[in-house]
Amino acid sequence: MKKAVIIYQSKTGITKKFAGEIAAYLAGKGMEAENLSIAEYTSGKAEKADYVLLGCWTSGFLLFFLQHPDGPWKKFAGNLPELPGRIALFTTYKVATGSMFNAMRKQLGLNGNRATTELRSRNGSLSAENKAVLDEFVK
Ligand SMILES: Cc1cc2nc3c(=O)[nH]c(=O)nc-3n(C[C@H](O)[C@H](O)[C@H](O)COP(=O)(O)O)c2cc1C
Repeated sequence: MKKAVIIYQSKTGITKKFAGEIAAYLAGKGMEAENLSIAEYTSGKAEKADYVLLGCWTSGFLLFFLQHPDGPWKKFAGNLPELPGRIALFTTYKVATGSMFNAMRKQLGLNGNRATTELRSRNGSLSAENKAVLDEFVK
């Protein structure tokens, strides 16, 4: 059975909801899907997974500029070793994700050549588009 680990950082619960919907969708496809906050995460889990989905809420300046993950997520990502599995990034936001995914990739040390799957949601619900992206990600 393929294994996915979903790891999120959420301030007010919207990204937590999104992570839960992602995990439920993958479990529904017959995968083992473990869903954890960065605080719950214990080292070693991401290296053992076939699929690693990393999420954080979008933080920026006046909702329009300079989007980036928050401090705890940056610290978490900076401490992750190189991951053998496929990586997807997800975020929730109000206006625009802007530079969020690039900032996440930079923090993870993923260079531009390593394509990452991206999922975004305003309300934490998994859209039909998100589902199609996940289908492709785990194909
Ligand atoms: C300090 C702060 C900065 C934010 N900056 C942005 C932003 O630049 N762009 C945006 O679209 N949303 C921004 N938001 C909205 C959050 O990304 C959005 O509400 C998110 O869904 C919250 O996720 P959470 O409930 O998991 O904490 C900001 C929220 C806060 C509190």
